[in-house]
Amino acid sequence: MKKSTALPVEQHNVEIQRNREAWSRKPQLQENYRRFYRSIAARIDASRPGLIVELGSGMGNIKEVIPQCITTDLFPNPWLDRQENAYRLSFADGSVSHLILFDVWHHLRYPGTALREFHRVLAPGGRLILFEPAASWTGRLVYGLFHHEPVGLKDQISWDAPPEFSPDNVDYYAAQGLATRLFWWGEARDRLEGWRLREIAPLACFAYFAAGGFSGLQIGGRFVQGLMHGFDRVAAIFPRALAGRLLVVLEKETL
Ligand SMILES: C[S@@+](CC[C@H](N)C(=O)[O-])C[C@H]1O[C@@H](n2cnc3c(N)ncnc32)[C@H](O)[C@@H]1O
Repeated sequence: MKKSTALPVEQHNVEIQRNREAWSRKPQLQENYRRFYRSIAARIDASRPGLIVELGSGMGNIKEVIPQCITTDLFPNPWLDRQENAYRLSFADGSVSHLILFDVWHHLRYPGTALREFHRVLAPGGRLILFEPAASWTGRLVYGLFHHEPVGLKDQISWDAPPEFSPDNVDYYAAQGLATRLFWWGEARDRLEGWRLREIAPLACFAYFAAGGFSGLQIGGRFVQGLMHGFDRVAAIFPRALAGRLLVVLEKETL
């Protein structure tokens, strides 16, 4: 099992720049991401007043599918709308209708502390939408073998930050199985006061795996992608074994 190494937080920006280069030469990867973004867009209730905000946008590609989304990240790259830190957001209380985190939740070392900040900025009934790796049998195998971040299924989860924690001093943390453990397997069940767990959707994504992610080799061309998308529909019947992604929707409870 890979260990979480103490890397500086700037490692994220190194990966953002590297991923941008991969993105431009991998159309099949782009198409898989657009599908993922569409599944997020389907969870947005456009009738709710308030801002639609993505945290940890990285390259900011979500705008291709959700153009009204405000893109943000720890790093103020010029293609993003603004700089935001998940632990200390600049949005006013209750001003956000939807908060989207795509592959960001598993980088939050103190999920409970971040969740409190998300609760503050969301309007009552507002939604927190997480799109994450799924630690099914397949997910554990693929992410464990082919992705550089630890899956961290046995790591202790530090729900709350220690008193000396400052958002200015975040480090590089990764535990790909964090959302699976907390929401799918239920480790956070007793910690979601003020939230309603609206949806947990494990998704099969063999087409995405075949596209090779950002760093891996693409397997086959358009024909293989078509086959894999078909296979994904069948694989969806066996989520514990075959899911590769996890979409979680939490709703801030109305008083
Ligand atoms: C794996 S990348 C995902 C990027 C993008 N969402 C995507 O799917 O391509 C994780 C992102 O989360 C950002 N991030 C990590 N910790 C953060 C924090 N505390 N607040 C805001 N963003 C953070 C990183 O800078 C990085 O861009």
